[in-house]
Amino acid sequence: MALKNSATEYGSLAKVLHWLVAIGIFALIWLGLEQSGMERGPDRQAVRDLHGSIALLVLSLMTLRVVWRLLNEVPAHPEKSPGWQRAAATLVHWGLYVAVFVQLVSGSLAVATGGRPLAFFGFFSIPLPVAESDDQHELWEEVHESVWIIIVVLLGVHVLAALYNHFAAKNDVLRRMTVGVSKSGG
Ligand code: HEM
Ligand code: HEM
Repeated sequence: MALKNSATEYGSLAKVLHWLVAIGIFALIWLGLEQSGMERGPDRQAVRDLHGSIALLVLSLMTLRVVWRLLNEVPAHPEKSPGWQRAAATLVHWGLYVAVFVQLVSGSLAVATGGRPLAFFGFFSIPLPVAESDDQHELWEEVHESVWIIIVVLLGVHVLAALYNHFAAKNDVLRRMTVGVSKSGG
């Protein structure tokens, strides 16, 4: 399997990055909601620190992913898909990139303006050069508590579209991000 993308399918690096980020995002949504139901204290702080540590991994993977995407060709939309579906796919993909970055930045700024460094699995922590501020802290928390809902809605559309393409339109869209497209055109 080729490392780079081709005109018809994603290469192995794009696939690995897509699926690692996907696992990371699902874990972050779950841990984020889990901690919101917990009482203040060391247990909740531990879940928050784990959430933030996984988020830093996702940030590195997403950065690598965007750089790799800009260096690569992007597989073309399926020949038979109508214009509105092509436009919607492009919009949802870019919407996901932007919303995930806003979520990563707002989470980091919510922690930093709350006067805490960003923890990384207990190995080290990164203090951001941002002043502590109650107003800013509340603002970034509100952004963080809203934008994940946009991510979930976009993801819902994204997953349904992948299933629609596979089972109804019967094209290679799901295969080219997973098992690959067979050379015989199957
Ligand atoms: C079960 C979950 C998921 C499924 C089934 C899925 C499926 C797919 C498929 C089939 C493609 C290829 C689309 C095409 O060739 O036109 C794709 C691309 C993409 N997916 Fe997902 N995905 C999932 C989760 C996620 C998550 C969590 C994100 C969040 C960042 C994401 C972001 C993207 C983006 C941005 C692209 C476009 C890739 C590019 O060209 O840069 N996906 N996904
Ligand atoms: C794509 C990345 C991220 C996703 C999907 C995500 C998701 C979530 C979710 C769903 C919540 C619960 C919100 C609520 O109760 O309404 C949450 C809370 C939280 N997240 Fe994230 N998060 C991400 C990145 C980050 C980062 C980078 C940090 C900091 C290093 C962070 C720190 C926090 C903190 C401190 C909370 C609790 C405070 C609050 O509710 O705003 N998150 N996150």
